[in-house]
Amino acid sequence: MTPAHNPQRIRTAVFPVAGLGTRFLPATKTVPKEMLPIIDRPLIQYAVDEAIAAGCDTLVFVTNRYKHAVADYFDKAYELEQKLEKAGKTEQLALIRNVLPDGVRAVFVTQAEALGLGHAVLCARPVVGDAPFAVLLPDDLIWSRGDGALKQMADHAQHSGGSVVAVQDVPHEQTASYGIVATAAFDGQSGRIHQIVEKPDPDVAPSNLAVVGRYILTPSIFDLLERTPKGAGGEIQLTDAIAALLDSERVDAFRFHGTRFDCGTHIGLIEATIRYALDNEKLSDAARSLMRNALDEMGVVES
Ligand code: G1P
Repeated sequence: MTPAHNPQRIRTAVFPVAGLGTRFLPATKTVPKEMLPIIDRPLIQYAVDEAIAAGCDTLVFVTNRYKHAVADYFDKAYELEQKLEKAGKTEQLALIRNVLPDGVRAVFVTQAEALGLGHAVLCARPVVGDAPFAVLLPDDLIWSRGDGALKQMADHAQHSGGSVVAVQDVPHEQTASYGIVATAAFDGQSGRIHQIVEKPDPDVAPSNLAVVGRYILTPSIFDLLERTPKGAGGEIQLTDAIAALLDSERVDAFRFHGTRFDCGTHIGLIEATIRYALDNEKLSDAARSLMRNALDEMGVVES
């Protein structure tokens, strides 16, 4: 079946990138957090590559009016390309050209007010239209050996026919940092969600299955988002609109293969950097020995 014949094949990915990234101040005073690098690529590039690998060819960036860096990054860099071309630096030229491969388009939508993740997704409605779409939160970086997390979810959505939310197990005491789901008949990898709640305290959390920043949603979510009042943190929450969607449509929780790094935190960014360095052919040996040296010099005894 070709993508055009299958209504469930997702083509559009939405990237909410309007947040202020205050945890990374002062760096994020001028550099949006999505532009912080893991080795040599900004966080946003990892999310974009994952979306493209899942079959998306329209990328919608929901940004705020102060964030030009993300748009600049995906724009063509004529002068730099000319310089690299003249210098015969073909490898580097390919790197900057592949930021956005041919056939993939980037669309920028402004979120005028920081009203929350649900509101950011709603801002993408005019571009998404009436088709299922993906949402990727670039802070959640997912490292995997095989198919990316979104591709795994897209494959699942093709046969479930409904929406899909990525989940992972978190320690019970951390439920207040996540959307938490309860499912029926979870088979180890997926299960239909019957309850979803944003950032519940551990004593009221329905499980320890936490939402990770990857969603495949049917367009029915937009009408629900229009009607979603402010929720946790005084923001319009995507989780609350998904909770409303459960009444009328199937939404599955999907435990992907891969490791998620919370790059919205200092330690998550460090952890991701270590993982990608160790996974990098050119860097892994050096990275290994410098980590050992650092541990030795800092007086940490290895067991
Ligand atoms: C958002 C969602 C939350 C989800 C989390 C995953 O929260 O609202 O449901 O679990 O992303 O990273 P945020 O971390 O943006 O506060």
